[in-house]
Amino acid sequence: MVTIAVPVEGVGEPRAAISPETVKKYVALGCDVRIQAGAGVPSNILDADYEEMGASIAGSLSDTLSGADVVLKVMRPTQEEIDLMGEGTVVAAILNPHDEVSGIEALAAKKIKAFSMEFMPRITRAQSMDVLSSQSNLAGYKAVIDSAAHFTQAMPMMMTAAGTVPPAKVFVMGAGVAGLQAIATAKRLGAIVTATDVRPAAKEQVESLGGKFIAVENDEFKEAETSGGYAKEMSDDYKREQAELVANHIKNQDIVITTALIPGRPAPKLISAEMVRSMGTGSIIYDMAVERGGNCDLAKPGEIVNENGVLIMGPLNIPGALAGNATSLYAKNLYNFLALMIDKEEGLKIDFEDEIIQGTLVTNDGKIVHPRLTGETS
Ligand code: NAI
Repeated sequence: MVTIAVPVEGVGEPRAAISPETVKKYVALGCDVRIQAGAGVPSNILDADYEEMGASIAGSLSDTLSGADVVLKVMRPTQEEIDLMGEGTVVAAILNPHDEVSGIEALAAKKIKAFSMEFMPRITRAQSMDVLSSQSNLAGYKAVIDSAAHFTQAMPMMMTAAGTVPPAKVFVMGAGVAGLQAIATAKRLGAIVTATDVRPAAKEQVESLGGKFIAVENDEFKEAETSGGYAKEMSDDYKREQAELVANHIKNQDIVITTALIPGRPAPKLISAEMVRSMGTGSIIYDMAVERGGNCDLAKPGEIVNENGVLIMGPLNIPGALAGNATSLYAKNLYNFLALMIDKEEGLKIDFEDEIIQGTLVTNDGKIVHPRLTGETS
């Protein structure tokens, strides 16, 4: 029988790696599920909710992890957790493998089979396991709601006897999963929405949501999408042209939501301090990329910077602010992934030839094995 363990996450992480719904599914797959007491509380899931679906609750971290075959987490395991795991344990989490490689080396040293959920290949079969999509979608929604809450004007146009309230102008930079949800949410609130991206595929998607697409659409733009569906780092010439376009546009915007990321690289800088200063008092920049260095030069992680009356918000762990939904979707992503390697009769059975396993396996047999980390591919 496969034993699945789920510890309490660390400070600053309200999400959990398992939901009552997925407990039931793991039990149906023949697994023994052990959850540390309180793991679901920040997502409003009580221990009793898990127990009702067939999980057992452990009082301490060591009781949770002892003898586990599989450990499910949101954040990368701590050294204390690694020390309590047995050699060969399967770990699935958002490992952030490009940051502080020592934490990944520690997993390798313990001969952990660690899977990094954010490396999920963007193929149709893996869509239901794609944590970046499930979490970014929620974050894109929350970005608009939080920005609107800090904006001292209304989002929709209102025609009243006392006069007309103009609609807010929202500019979304990076129209991937988060950006598209931000566009849809801002449109629903009645804002006038524009958006930009470097991938041509984004144009039609933005327009289909009722946004206006603006971008430097040159030859480089036509080739900016990798086979994995992500953006490439753009040339200095492109960046210069893009900056000019953005500088002209941004000064008339009320709310700017930035989501631009490039896998394995710092976030591209898209908004300079000068651009911020060109914006009107009371406008908002909500930098969703702040955890990866930020799209705005003035954004600070976890802070709201006030630059001449322009608020630059640098929120951390945005999906965590919707912990109930985020846990439910993340847990489902993990279950869909784990179901690939758990057989009801035979237990744990990992097919190392499977593209999804190969794409996400970061450490195995004492070594860091992922080509993106060993430098064999970018
Ligand atoms: P992401 O989170 O890596 O980046 C966010 C957005 O920023 C992307 O649209 C990217 O093109 C854009 N960006 C990067 N550099 C930029 C720059 N210098 N200026 C402006 N924008 C810039 O990407 P995300 O949202 O995770 O996914 C991108 C696309 O991948 C999605 O829109 C979708 O088409 C595709 N996708 C495919 C999936 C599948 O087939 N299973 C699953 C999820 C997404």
